[in-house]
This record gives sequence, structure tokens and C-alpha cells, in this order.
Amino acid sequence: MLSHIKDIVKKAEEGKYAVGAFNVHNLESIQAVAETAQELNSPAIIQASEGAIKYIGLKNFVNLVTVAANDIAPDVPIAFHLDHGATAEIVYACIEAGFSSVHIDASSKPFDENIALSKEVVDYAHKRGVWVQGEVGPIMGGHGVIGGTIEDVPIAKVDEVVEFVEKTGVDTIAAAIGTAHGNFDNEDVKIDLLKEIKTATKKPFVLHGGSGVDEEKIIAGIKEGVNIINIGTDIKVAFSTAVKKTCQENPDETDPRNLLRPCIAAVKDVVAGKMKLFSSINKK
Ligand code: G3H
Ligand code: ZN
Repeated sequence: MLSHIKDIVKKAEEGKYAVGAFNVHNLESIQAVAETAQELNSPAIIQASEGAIKYIGLKNFVNLVTVAANDIAPDVPIAFHLDHGATAEIVYACIEAGFSSVHIDASSKPFDENIALSKEVVDYAHKRGVWVQGEVGPIMGGHGVIGGTIEDVPIAKVDEVVEFVEKTGVDTIAAAIGTAHGNFDNEDVKIDLLKEIKTATKKPFVLHGGSGVDEEKIIAGIKEGVNIINIGTDIKVAFSTAVKKTCQENPDETDPRNLLRPCIAAVKDVVAGKMKLFSSINKK
């Protein structure tokens, strides 16, 4: 059932588990997340990047996610969230379209500009009952990139994260603590830094770059207060691997449904594995 993110995150904080925020790219991946959430009795966050919004169309996206959440997953809460919104314009468009949560990512700008833009978005969003995620990073890498190591991963400073949270009033905080977008061999979750951030901010913490992070590090992060974990690359890889394999094995197939059905199954496997790892199963 389409729900406000605050209800999902508050329960996750109380129950000490994390909720997956899954990047979706098309009808099939939306369907896959909703079906898995319903089957496993798990909350979920469906998130839209600006690229996915350009591809699907904002109104179409909202309608697809609303119908999937209400009709495919009527018994579990599903929230719709904007991921890495770079400008006030895209954030406001998503708020007007009905998102319950938006991420303003001004983390590549100078720190005071990040604070100013994030605060402006918080003021706008809170008047409309919408939650805002802010970011002190930036979190590097690239969605869909796999293999190798990533150099010079920035690490957030605790005092900056605290100042950012206090001055902006964001509802959830993402900060660079060693992970990267994509799937790299040297991703880390700096537990001591996470603990300090949690103690000082008391805010729900969002771990970006969830693909490619060792399972033990994810589990340790959840224990220390990670409440939302973003998963993008693993979904892209599952989908694209399945469609390539199906095309190779069935070169004469002309029905798109037969080519895409295995992709739904592949994405469902990824989502189910994450829900299990994040301990969100049976926690609706
Ligand atoms: O914002 C999206 C995520 O942080 C996804 O990261 O592609 O490494 O799973 P990922
Ligand atoms: Zn991210």
C-alpha cells in the first residue's frame, strides 16, 4: 500500500532493521519490488532517479508506483522517494506529483551552498508534509559500474554532518562513510564514523551505494543505526544479465513479454536477498 516514508522509517528505527530503497527503471522493476515486498511481508521504498523520471515520465511514474503499491502489495507499506535530486525544480515537481520523500543532493557544491539549498527544500517540503533527505558527501562512483577498486572515496566529517543536520532540519541524512555507487572491491562502512554521526544527530541514516558492500559490513551498519539502504547497481545488473541471456538463448523470440519475464524474476531474487540481509522480512 502506498505509504508515507515516515511510517516505514520510524518502525525500522524501533525494530533495528533497515528498509531497502530500490532504484527502479521501468514497469518490470517496479512490479518486481512490489511483488517481492508483498510475498515476503516486507516494507520497501521505491526510488526514482532523475534519469528514470526522464525515461518513464513523472506522471506515468507516480501512477505506476501507486498502482503497484496499492494493487500488487496491498498488505505492506511502500513509499515513493526521489533519489539524488540535483535541483529545487526537480524536487518541487516530485513533491507536487505526490512523493512522500525527496533527496536533495547538493553535496558536490560548497558546504554553505549545500546547506542553503537543502534548507530551502526542507522549508518547502515540510509545509507540504514531505520528508527530505540531505547529503554530506559526495558519494562517488557510478550507478551500474562494476568491478575494480575506487580511489579517493571522500569521507564526511562528523562536525560538518552535525552542522548540516542542525541548520537544514532534514529528516534523514546520507553521508559518505566509505561506500560508493556501483560495485567495487574496496567499499567500506566506517562503523566508528557511523556511530559518531548517529549519536550526534539522532537522525535516520541512509546508506548509499549499497551494491557491492560486504554483507558483514551491511549487518554491522544496521546494528549501529543504518535505517535505509539504497540498492541500484545490483538491480541494473540482474535485469541486464537476464535480458541478454534470454535474447541469446531465444534468438527467434519476438514477444517482449517473453524476453522481459525472466528480468522480473531476476530483480525479485535481488530484492528478496536484500530484504533478508536487511532483516525487513515480516516487519510490515
Ligand atoms: O542512490 C542510489 C544508490 O546509492 C545506489 O547505489 O548502485 O551502489 O547500489 P548502488
Ligand atoms: Zn546514491
